Amino acid sequence: MEYQLKTGDLTTLRTACLVVGVFTKKKLTDPALAIDQASSGAISAILKKGDFEGNADQTLMLYNINGLACDRLLLVGLGDEKEYGIKGLRKSAAQVAKILDNSHILEAVTSLPAVPAGDESLYRILTDTVIASEEGLYQFDQCKSKPSPNKRPLKKLGLFIGSQRKNQKLDQAISHGMAIAAGSGLAKTLGNLPGNICTPTYLAEQAKLLGKKSSKLKVQVLDEKRMQALGMGALLSVSRGSRQPAKLIVMEYKGGPAKSKPVVLVGKGLTFDAGGISIKPAAAMDEMKYDMCGGASVLGALSACAQADLPINVVGIVPASENLPDGDANKPGDIVTSMSGQTIEILNTDAEGRLILCDALTYAKRFNPDVVIDIATLTGACVIALGAHASGLLSNNDALANDILEAGQRCGDRAWRLPLWDDYQSQLDSNFADMANIGGKGAGTITAACFLSRYTKEYKWAHLDIAGTAWISNGSNKGGTGRPVSLLTHYLLKRCKLGD
Ligand code: BES
Ligand code: MN
Ligand code: ZN
Repeated sequence: MEYQLKTGDLTTLRTACLVVGVFTKKKLTDPALAIDQASSGAISAILKKGDFEGNADQTLMLYNINGLACDRLLLVGLGDEKEYGIKGLRKSAAQVAKILDNSHILEAVTSLPAVPAGDESLYRILTDTVIASEEGLYQFDQCKSKPSPNKRPLKKLGLFIGSQRKNQKLDQAISHGMAIAAGSGLAKTLGNLPGNICTPTYLAEQAKLLGKKSSKLKVQVLDEKRMQALGMGALLSVSRGSRQPAKLIVMEYKGGPAKSKPVVLVGKGLTFDAGGISIKPAAAMDEMKYDMCGGASVLGALSACAQADLPINVVGIVPASENLPDGDANKPGDIVTSMSGQTIEILNTDAEGRLILCDALTYAKRFNPDVVIDIATLTGACVIALGAHASGLLSNNDALANDILEAGQRCGDRAWRLPLWDDYQSQLDSNFADMANIGGKGAGTITAACFLSRYTKEYKWAHLDIAGTAWISNGSNKGGTGRPVSLLTHYLLKRCKLGD
């Protein structure tokens, strides 16, 4: 969709629909107040009658209001003024976009950006309005035989900013918001696609398409033969159980000075995880199509970098494979040699994410990274620990961990740090190899990160476990969330001294 900054007098603004916010207890936002006055109290009259209370989630479409230049007026309840903040804005913006789109209104103006949201900057308000609106408009119907596309979708949304002057920073807020929304939409769609369509080869093709769209993004795909030559015995042991060949997707975005060290993002691209010989139970196994969401978030973040033309160097690495039971699959007890030379006893073939990631993390070294962040739907234990609200964060560097926490806090795509103490490392002891691929009952998210930490000693590294946040499990909302594309892009924006 297209977004435009709007200033000036709301009451004379010509638009098919003007959106204004109302708090509870009959408290009008400033734009609503101006509209109320120009329309001889049209809004107050409705509040008086009790038809609209301003509760969050409440909306009311009004027609034929005298004294205004708009065709329709959409009242949006914002709840209690004291509690209203950026979270409320995000919710309302998503709701508004959905209503406008469903009402076949082609163009509208929302005055919500002119309403203070806690102490958030106008940049933040605009970025989040755009991201949340796109979130509200997102649909996945690629796999329906008769998709019903909206014939009159919302095309243009004006963002009214009151008496503020338009400036370059605010235009940037909109384009950053659009880039993030597009990146997270891509991650959602790749996640939602089933395992029989979104294979490692398909993921690689999607990455190549991104490369074609931007001259600053170079995409290279390593096949199994190349991986064999590199000694990626851990990664290849997982894909041996599958008829789909593994791919190592390597994306290099060069937006910064040639000499500036890149941020390397490594994403788990397990396009379907049946568990292998240590097969998973049948219930909800379909959701293991989402096991590539870490990889999808890397594609999403690189797409956002390219679209926003960020002045930074970023490398994306996505080891992509399936994990299935087969006569040639890994067996419990098998010992494989990783690219680092370290050997691994595979005690549970369902702990495959760390096997494909460890070789990708070793490969990351050749880019001389400033920092490496890996993103993976790695452990069910993380869902138990943090649920669906926060991604798990583990890191060997406090400054990097804090930057990531802060980026997540800023955009509402939050992470929470867990310890990576040496005390946990001994849970990975093996009698037969350098390490086991599982760490026993306790602290599954931490021992998974401990495993990865053995491959990341030479650089600053953080690990995001997104098992609980990458998709919504059940109900009519079931689907990919696009997380943590927003967190990652905000981290990168901050490194570019942008994003506030
Ligand atoms: N992809 C799963 C993790 C997962 C499970 C994510 C459920 C989201 C929901 C991963 O490959 C896996 O199977 N992990 C095992 C590790 C265990 C065998 C040590 C797990 O979490 O059960
Ligand atoms: Mn698994
Ligand atoms: Zn997995």
